[in-house]
Amino acid sequence: MFDENKVRDIIGEFTVSADELKEIAAAFRHDLKRGLNNPDDSSLRMLKSYVGLPTGKEKGEYIALDFGGTNVRVLKIRLEGAGKFTEIKKVAKPLIVDGVYDYIGADSSAEEMFDFLAGLIDEVLDGDRETKFLLGHTFSFPSEQTDLNNAKLIIWTKEFATPGVEGKVVNDLLKDALLRAGVTNVEPVAVINDTVAVLLSAAYKNPDTYIGSIYATGHNTCYLEPYAETGDVPMILNLESGGYMKLAPNRFDVKYDEMSEKPGEQRLEKMVSGRYMGELFGLALNDILNTDKKYSFTSVDMSNIILDESDELTEASQIIERGTGEKLSVDELKAIKDLAAAIVVRSARLVTASFVGIIWQLEGKIPAKFMHIAVDGSVYEKMPLVKENINRALSEILGENAANVDTVLDNGGSGLGAAIAAAMSKA
Ligand code: GLC
Repeated sequence: MFDENKVRDIIGEFTVSADELKEIAAAFRHDLKRGLNNPDDSSLRMLKSYVGLPTGKEKGEYIALDFGGTNVRVLKIRLEGAGKFTEIKKVAKPLIVDGVYDYIGADSSAEEMFDFLAGLIDEVLDGDRETKFLLGHTFSFPSEQTDLNNAKLIIWTKEFATPGVEGKVVNDLLKDALLRAGVTNVEPVAVINDTVAVLLSAAYKNPDTYIGSIYATGHNTCYLEPYAETGDVPMILNLESGGYMKLAPNRFDVKYDEMSEKPGEQRLEKMVSGRYMGELFGLALNDILNTDKKYSFTSVDMSNIILDESDELTEASQIIERGTGEKLSVDELKAIKDLAAAIVVRSARLVTASFVGIIWQLEGKIPAKFMHIAVDGSVYEKMPLVKENINRALSEILGENAANVDTVLDNGGSGLGAAIAAAMSKA
C-alpha cells in the first residue's frame, strides 16, 4: 500500500528550482512596487508603521507588551543608549491552557482577552501604582495605523478567532482594560508589528539593518522604505508578506487553505510558517497512506524526524506511529523523512525569495553596501535545514552579491522593539 514513488512525486511537488526561485523573487519585488504606488493593486498590505529606525541613543524605563503568538510577554525594560538595555522584569503566560482557559478561540471575548493582558501588566508593575510608564505594544497582526499609537486590527491571522477585536483600535481596548484593572500609571503610546519590533531592536544594536522578519508560528517581513524617489521621510512598512498571493500553491496548500480559519488569506504564510508546516506534512501523509483521517503533526515533530540520524529511525518511527497509527518500515520512514525535509527546504527558499525582492527594492537607495536582515522566531532559530537553505537560496538568486547581505538572529527582539518604539514616540 505504501508507494515510495508516490512519495517521491509529492516531494517533487514541494520542490522549488533555482529558476523558479528567481522568478518568485522578481514577482515579489514587482508586487511590492505596485503596493508602494497603491496597496489595492498588490497582494501585500504595505502597512505604514509611522516609525523609522532608532538612533541607538534612546533611553529610559518602559513597559513592553509583546502579544502575537500563543505566549504573551510583558517586560519592564531599561534602555541605556549606545545600543544597550536591561530587562528588569518579565512575565510570560500562554493565551490558551487546554481545559483551563482560552482567550483566542471563537468562544472567548475581547474583554476577557484584554483583561488578561492588563493583569500581566499589573504583575510586572509589582504593586507600583505611582511611577509613570510609557508602554510599547507589539501587536503581531495586520493593523491599519494612522499614527504610531492608533492601530486598528484589520483581520486576525494565525488561526486566532476572538470575537470583538477585528476592526477595533487595539490600544483603546487595552486602555479600557487597564482602567478596569485600576492601573492608571501606564500609558500605551505605541503599537508596532513584531517584524517592526525586530527591526527596531536589531537596528538599535547594529546600524546596517534594514529588514526585519519573523519566521515562527507566523511569517512576515518589514523593511525601511527610503522613499528615495518622493523624498518623503523614510518609514518602516509592514508588508504582511504572509499574505503574498502570487505563488503557485500545490494541491496540499490548496487543501489546507480550504480547511483553515480564513480560506484565501495568508497564502504564503500557510506554505512556510511553523503553524502550518505540520499541517501540510499531515495532508501529504494522508495521500501517501490513502486515508483522510485528521492528523495533527507539528513543525516540532518534523524537526525531530529530520534530526533522527539513527539506523532504525526510531524516533521518526514513533512520531509517525503516534500520529497515524501506522508502523512503517525503515525505507518507508526514510522517504517520509525526505518529505519532511522537502517541506522545510521549500519554506526556507520561499522566505528567501521574498527577502531578495526587498533587497532589490533597497539596492542603491540606502547608504550601506552591506545589509543585515534581522530575523526572529523558532523556525529560523531551531528548525534544521533552514539557515543553510536560506544561505544557499541567497547565493542561487544573488550570485556573488550574496556576500553583501546576511541574516542574523535577533532573539526576543519583540519586547525590546516595543520599548524602543515607546521611547521614539516622544521624539
Ligand atoms: C502573521 C501576522 C503578522 C505577523 C506574523 C508573525 O503573519 O499577520 O502581522 O507579523 O504573523 O508573527
